[in-house]
Amino acid sequence: MRFHLPILFGIASLAIAAPIKNSTDHRSLPDGLPTPSPSELEVIEENAHGTLPNGPPPPGISENGITNLKLVAFNELFEVAFFHELITNVTNQVLGYRFSSEDDYDFILNGLKVILAQEELHALDANNALSHFGIAPIEPCQYNFPVDNFNDAILLASTFTDVVLGTLQDVVERFAIGGDFALTREVSSIIGQEGEQQGWFRIMQGKVPSELPFLTTSDLNFAFTAIQSFTVPGTCPNINSIPLETFEPLNIITAPTAKTDHIKVSFYDRKDVEESTLWIVYINQQNLPIVEPLTVLSNEEHEIVAEALFPYEAHEMNGLTIAAVTTTEGPFPDASSVAKATVAGPGLIIIN
Ligand SMILES: *[C@@H]1O[C@H](CO)[C@@H](O)[C@H](O)[C@H]1NC(C)=O
Ligand SMILES: *[C@@H]1O[C@H](CO)[C@@H](O)[C@H](O)[C@H]1NC(C)=O
Repeated sequence: MRFHLPILFGIASLAIAAPIKNSTDHRSLPDGLPTPSPSELEVIEENAHGTLPNGPPPPGISENGITNLKLVAFNELFEVAFFHELITNVTNQVLGYRFSSEDDYDFILNGLKVILAQEELHALDANNALSHFGIAPIEPCQYNFPVDNFNDAILLASTFTDVVLGTLQDVVERFAIGGDFALTREVSSIIGQEGEQQGWFRIMQGKVPSELPFLTTSDLNFAFTAIQSFTVPGTCPNINSIPLETFEPLNIITAPTAKTDHIKVSFYDRKDVEESTLWIVYINQQNLPIVEPLTVLSNEEHEIVAEALFPYEAHEMNGLTIAAVTTTEGPFPDASSVAKATVAGPGLIIIN
């Protein structure tokens, strides 16, 4: 190891809850994004250590394929804003983002700058493809990130990268179902790239680099909701053109550790659900979703606090678990059937 960061991760899991404060304006996206000039693009490619794919996209695309590209662009623009702000914080040695040696700064900043440029190319690639198909590209929002120090920022990066790694599996499947086979190879190359980032984020947290034998899967709608916890409401110019569902957020109040235990969650019940017919569903690895009954502890002004078993030991529930509250018991054959029954989610849990 070349660097000795003050890595303080006792935290085994993270529940995302975004406070409302503005920090990033999309005008502050770097390198001319979302529409860089040819010379800005040249600089991005140099920083990314590589280029945009130069073969033409296929002549046609399915409806679901378009939704895939929109979600990918929406996500990558958010990642660009995040890594740009993180680099700015480290560069400016903002309190909470200071390291003890110059070597650490060089090592971290070099890595982050390459990641930023690579994410910029991912965003441009998805938006270019949309333009190619005559669809308006996705525009960036204003964002805010619920972190104020380097360790929390890396934990957050590793959490959203986990969600992306699961969601791109869904993207590939939807392309396949829609007959968009010509787009699957490129997405697969991005999955590998995001996995490389994740290995680095995990090492920085003192974890083993590779998370699971089969990474946890997700669904486009869960990612769409999760990303919105980092956008300032009302600042995403064409989010309404993305035909995906936004669920009520699911807050993990007491996060589980690496043992079978009860977890406490809260969520806003907009739909007056029947309290006796609520379940929590856990999506972990490539396994069938796990369903547990949810016991409501309190329900005041539609804010439900509830408790459920987290059966860690029975299922070796390491890595990312996506939790969702549903109004049906299943059984659910896959993540997309869970999303269809979800009233609140995704709650994000990472163990080990
Ligand atoms: C946050 O951004 C919104 C939308 O641009 C704006 O209306 C609001 O005044 C901003 N709030 C703060 C605290 O800057
Ligand atoms: C950058 O630092 C500011 C000030 O602490 C903080 O509000 C913001 O969330 C940080 N952003 C990232 C990505 O770490």
